[in-house]
Amino acid sequence: MAKLHNVAFKLNGKAVAAEVEPRELLIYTLRERLGATGAHIGCETSHCGACTVDCNGMSVKSCTVLTVQCAGADVLTVEGLERGGALHALQQAFHEEHGLQCGYCTPGMLMRAYRLLQENPSPSEAEIRYGMAGNLCRCTGYQNIVKAVQSAARKLAAKPAAA
Ligand code: FES
Ligand code: FES
Repeated sequence: MAKLHNVAFKLNGKAVAAEVEPRELLIYTLRERLGATGAHIGCETSHCGACTVDCNGMSVKSCTVLTVQCAGADVLTVEGLERGGALHALQQAFHEEHGLQCGYCTPGMLMRAYRLLQENPSPSEAEIRYGMAGNLCRCTGYQNIVKAVQSAARKLAAKPAAA
């Protein structure tokens, strides 16, 4: 067995640590060691985006990030989006605009949309489609996902403190 590494980082604002082999992928550490099962495992080959989380202010596909690369990082998963028990504007908008069916892609969609709106608070439809092209959905046809991101962008622009 390979030497274990103690990797400490911040997960949804809280300090966490895990003993991992150097080859362990972030998605497994999140789900199996830290109980953050919101990020889903889809393809494990960086195609589907179901495992997308935010790391140091960037969207990453956690099936292609080694946990040891996250030492000292600030990681945000879908569990960290709500504030004081209230849904994030994106979560609310996905609900209201029917931006999901089975929901398997949704945590990754939300996390990618979160970073997209941090980078571009008022994206055009084309920018949303381009910015979320790395996240696949087998159910919705994407139209309502785009509508949900547009709706959340409008709400966040009206109430920026909720970002
Ligand atoms: S599970 Fe990571 S991109 Fe599909
Ligand atoms: S809602 Fe089913 S995969 Fe997107």
